[in-house]
Formats: sequence, C-alpha cells, structure tokens
Amino acid sequence: MKPRVLLTHPLIKEAMDYLSSQTELELGTSGDFLPPSELAEKIKDKEGLLCFLSDTIDRELIEKAPFLRAISNCAVGTNNIDLKLARNRGITVTNTPDILTESTADLTLALILATTRRLIEADDFCRQGQFKGWKIDLFLGQGLPGKTLGIIGLGQIGQAVARKAQAFGLKIIYYNRHRLSPEKEMNLKAEYRHLDSLLAEADIISIHASLNPESYHLIAKDKLALIKKSAVVINVARGAIVDEKALAEALKTGRIWAAGFDVYEHEPRIEPELLSLKNVVLLPHIGSATYETRLKMSFMAVNNLIEALAGKTPANLVKDS
Ligand code: GLV
Repeated sequence: MKPRVLLTHPLIKEAMDYLSSQTELELGTSGDFLPPSELAEKIKDKEGLLCFLSDTIDRELIEKAPFLRAISNCAVGTNNIDLKLARNRGITVTNTPDILTESTADLTLALILATTRRLIEADDFCRQGQFKGWKIDLFLGQGLPGKTLGIIGLGQIGQAVARKAQAFGLKIIYYNRHRLSPEKEMNLKAEYRHLDSLLAEADIISIHASLNPESYHLIAKDKLALIKKSAVVINVARGAIVDEKALAEALKTGRIWAAGFDVYEHEPRIEPELLSLKNVVLLPHIGSATYETRLKMSFMAVNNLIEALAGKTPANLVKDS
C-alpha cells in the first residue's frame, strides 16, 4: 500500500507528478496560503508531510498527526519545524541543503548591486518619465572595489557570497559562531572579526546565519549604532535575525545608507515603515528562485520523503541543533 502524504502547496510539476505516482497524495492547496486549521485537519491521517518554510509545523500541529513518520521541508532552513518534538516522536525530518547555495549567493550579489547602485529607484525614475538626459550626479551610488564586505554566518551560502564578491573587488571579513580553520580562512581570503568589530568596519553587511535563539534580533538598535553611516545591510537569511522596526528607523533617519531584504520576520507581512522608504530594496523571499534550483529542490524534497517513508535513512536528514 502506498503511504498517505500531504503536500501543503504545489511543487514544480515534474516532481509533484513523481510524488503522486509513489504515494497516496493529497495537495493542501493550490492557492497561496494554507490556513493552520486546514493543515491540522488534513494532516490527521497522513504518514508523510512535504512542506515549505511558510508552513508552521509546531507542537500543536504535530500532536494532531498520530501517524506522521516523516517531514520533508522543501527549504534549507528548518526554523519552521519543532525539531525537538519531531525527534521525540521519532519523526524523520529532512531539508534541501547545498543545491540552493549558488542561487541564493547570486541573489545576494544582486541585492548588493541594487542597493549600492540604487537600481530600483533609477528604474522607477525612468518609468515616471523623469529621465531628461545624462547628468554628472544622476543617481550617484557607491562603488564596490576596495570596500569591505562583512559576512555574518560563513556557512555554505556565506562562503559562496565571499567567493563571488571578491570578483567585484570587495575585501571579506566575517563573523561566525565557530571560527573557520586557518586553512579555510586562507582559501576564502576571509578574515575573522568579533561581531561588533565587523559591524564597525564593514561597508556592506550581509547576513547568512541560521535563525536560532542566539541569532534572534542579533541586529537590533544597539548593534545598528555601531554600523557606519554609509553602510548597507543585506538580509537573505531569516527576517527575525534583524529587528525590522529598528532597521527601518535607522534607514529613515540616515543612521545607515541603504538595505536590501529578501526575508521578513513575519512573512508575508512586511514592516509598513519599510514600504515607504526609497533606500531599501524589498524582495519576496526569492533567494533560491531560479527554475533550475527550484526543480532540484522539488525532487530532493520528494526523494527525501520517499526514502524516509520506506524506512531508509534519507540523504538529507536534519539533526536538531
Ligand atoms: C530559503 O530561505 C530556504 O531556507 O530554503
């Protein structure tokens, strides 16, 4: 008998077709949002769950799923899942690491360029019919060569950003919970700094840490006070690492120069203050959104789930941290 599986939202079609051929599949919704009450109703009789970072898989939900044996998260981050409870219940949890590293790093570079060269403001200016001719000081931005990029969280994505950013002439400093080996630092040409020193020294600060109790609101008012007035802050990791209200205030008062966000603390809600500011670029969590990457993520999530439900050790098992 095929295992009963709930897929909360659609995957890329080919992967969803394959999942449907291997399991007794129910699709939660083909719309944008599956309300928690509906998710709780649909999970009741399921053995497997394939979900996304926008689904909250907490105690309340897991307790409603007595048959659940495997949760496959189609994301690298797993902060949306109560991992401890899943482990205590013997539920296997998997994620989709590594394959989204390059696309997420590319999007980081896109945000760095969009903020430092004021691309969105300039595009808007053209669309409003305001371009009247070349001018020496039209949309003056900041150049990258010789500037310092401070990376917070030098895991796979942070390291890919470091490599790509060097092609733009950026010097790399980093802060990480665990310092890298001297050999790795040398290969990456990345110098370690304590967080406060990094914040004071960097021209661009890019966040790639995972969200956990230690990193929650890591960048709040006290830390923003250390940052250079000309600095740019980029966040493509998890929204809650930054205190959005404090950041909006810093952008508004000119305490910092610009910011680029792909993630928000209470997605899909965006701090209203940010929406009215010109010196922030706002993206709807599209770090890994290339067709190639999303196809790979979809198949990886499907294969993880099928392996786990077959009692095998899936390739991308998540250990709770
Ligand atoms: C994206 O944010 C992911 O965790 O995959």
